[in-house]
Amino acid sequence: MIALAGQRALVTGGASGIGEATARLLAELGAQVVLADRNAPALPAAQDRTGALAVTAGDVASEADAERMAAEAAAALGGLDILMNAAGIGDDLAPLHAQPVERWQHVLDVNLRGTYLMCRAAGRPMLAARRGAIVNVSSIVGLGAFPGRSAYGAAKAAVNHLTRTLGCEWGPLGVRVNAVAPAYTLTPMVRDLLDRAVFDPAQIACRTPLGRMAEPAEVARAAAFLLSDWASYVTGAVLPVDGGWSAYGAAGDVARFPGPGA
Ligand SMILES: NC(=O)c1ccc[n+]([C@@H]2O[C@H](COP(=O)([O-])OP(=O)(O)OC[C@H]3O[C@@H](n4cnc5c(N)ncnc54)[C@H](O)[C@@H]3O)[C@@H](O)[C@H]2O)c1
Repeated sequence: MIALAGQRALVTGGASGIGEATARLLAELGAQVVLADRNAPALPAAQDRTGALAVTAGDVASEADAERMAAEAAAALGGLDILMNAAGIGDDLAPLHAQPVERWQHVLDVNLRGTYLMCRAAGRPMLAARRGAIVNVSSIVGLGAFPGRSAYGAAKAAVNHLTRTLGCEWGPLGVRVNAVAPAYTLTPMVRDLLDRAVFDPAQIACRTPLGRMAEPAEVARAAAFLLSDWASYVTGAVLPVDGGWSAYGAAGDVARFPGPGA
């Protein structure tokens, strides 16, 4: 069994989706968890659902908020061993030439700058203790090109590189840094896009070798592995949690080969 008893964890984006599912699993595995999220009104209910010890509200893209949230979590827990960086936003699926620079920058700020700021702030007590584990949440959109998603893709590709760099930089100092790169996961973010018919679930299923979208708990399990001592020799890795999406190279309409009944 993966055991996290006594581990002190901060989970950003903990009020919803992948962050919430990871917070709940970390708590089930014995960790003491603090949720951080900019959606302050959603935090008390998320605390109830996850069994988190405490919550802190703020914007990960703000340096002052990131520093404060990490400090509050470390104070509440008496230190930090784990950071799960799940706070993030999607983009508007607009062609690059039609995208306002302010929107492009905002997507970069939350997904990349926010990840950097939280790694820096939460990493400090880990480096001081010469012990810690961080998981950043990337995406398949950071592994290959998705037209219309230039800002989100650039941010997630940069998160992958930041993860590799920090894995190498902080490895000798006792802190492991990895990332998960999920495909379409049934969180509020994606359910909203499905409801608005921005994504076609049948096409996604067809393009995905495992034939379906992910549940948040499936991404949480991969993250919990990377955050635990079971991954004690893993750092600087970007783990696709994507039902085979990134391994698959053929066109979507032949994804069912060899087909039913074969
Ligand atoms: N759902 C998917 O299909 C999918 C796939 C690949 C990657 N991801 C990534 O997973 C992460 C979580 O996404 P999700 O699908 O669970 O979304 P979600 O919208 O359900 O949850 C995201 C949470 O992050 C919080 N948040 C957003 N911006 C913030 C900010 N600036 N400061 C603090 N908190 C902030 C939101 O309030 C929300 O509670 C994101 O980084 C997303 O890019 C999601």
